Amino acid sequence: MPDFFDTSDPAFIADPYPTLNALRESGPIHRDTDWNLWLITRHEDVRAVQLDRRMGRVRQGSALPSDFRPIRELGLEGWEPYYEVERHSLLHLEPPEHTRLRSLVNRAFTPKRVREMRAPVVSIADDLLDGLRGRTTFDLLADYAQPYSVRVIAALLGAPAEDADLLLDWSHAIVKMYELHTTRRQARDAIEAAREFAGWTEGLISARRTDPQDDLITALCLAETGEGRLSVPEIVSTVILLLNAGHEATVNTMGNGITAAMKDGEAWRRLAAGEAQSAAAVEEMMRFDPPLQLFERYALGEGVEIAGTPIPPGDKVAMLFGSANRDPRRFDAPDEFRIDRGEQDHVTLGAGLHFCLGAALARLELEIAVDRLAATFPGASLASEPQREEGFVIRGYEKVDLAIPA
Ligand code: HEM
Repeated sequence: MPDFFDTSDPAFIADPYPTLNALRESGPIHRDTDWNLWLITRHEDVRAVQLDRRMGRVRQGSALPSDFRPIRELGLEGWEPYYEVERHSLLHLEPPEHTRLRSLVNRAFTPKRVREMRAPVVSIADDLLDGLRGRTTFDLLADYAQPYSVRVIAALLGAPAEDADLLLDWSHAIVKMYELHTTRRQARDAIEAAREFAGWTEGLISARRTDPQDDLITALCLAETGEGRLSVPEIVSTVILLLNAGHEATVNTMGNGITAAMKDGEAWRRLAAGEAQSAAAVEEMMRFDPPLQLFERYALGEGVEIAGTPIPPGDKVAMLFGSANRDPRRFDAPDEFRIDRGEQDHVTLGAGLHFCLGAALARLELEIAVDRLAATFPGASLASEPQREEGFVIRGYEKVDLAIPA
């Protein structure tokens, strides 16, 4: 158990903010002996770590796959399929490999491609919401957010819409590896999912190589810089990362954010009445209750100092996003959900080298999801108190039942 909070305590998971606020106000940096890392609590310092090139995602000189905790801790055999999809993941790379891969992916995943997603994304939202008309209750997550976000990624990639369920199952299995604790069973399922997902993506790549389309898979196949093109394993890792990094966080932002707006009462009413803008509402949803609470970095060299504390080379730090986003030094009355606050300076999408590659798509997707839901079901409210998923790093609800007035 970590020294400062207990991530297995349901009361902490239900509402970690009083504990995180107290920790942040007692100091900007704390050494956690159990987790063997430094906890960073304040907005200014979390932002500085995100931007600091001397802080890396991967320990210097670390030999993958020994760096993947579940593999190391569980001593699993047959982990190669999982390792294969993780080894080219942007999230685990540092320059110069990261620079080369990210600039190639940027060639394909352009702002124009994201802008062109607006009309298809609106139709995906409306199609799902039309299917819910006449119901007196539905689960915001299972009936709307999840199928929505996976269909958006499928449409972006150019994958057949009927494969969306497969993508969802694989993604759920793989992201279990990102939690602080993973069971052997979960790790085996993740390895199997990685194997199947890779095979599916390879099939799509060869189909597009013979018959190019106007989609992201084709663009990734064709992307070229002075340093060449993406290899098939790199495209496979990137596609899997786009789905995993994009899908779960978007669903949980919708669940956490819409729940917060409905609990506030006024906020949802103003949105539904068109008195508040969904683009601003989405920024507040991301700030108020972020779907990803903790990101780690290693000090790559000498001379790193955080909030005046020297961090020895090789030491690990954990940035606490929920704590930074509630820092009163940066946000006025941070524990209040203000639907029109509209500040983009939360830490939720990262910054610097690893700044969320899908940020523009995430914002577009969330804005449309909230806007269409509020327009279609303006009288929606929480049918019951939603229950939290276990786990701290990925923060979301199990389900969010909404009541729809007849
Ligand atoms: C609200 C939804 C989202 C949140 C909160 C989120 C958050 C983040 C954060 C915090 C990072 C940086 C991690 C770090 O600094 O170590 C990141 C990276 C990334 N995100 Fe997102 N993300 C979201 C949606 C998406 C979407 C929709 C996509 C793609 C379709 C996506 C793709 C990526 C990728 C590829 C990276 C890795 C970038 C790199 O390492 O260079 N994300 N995301």
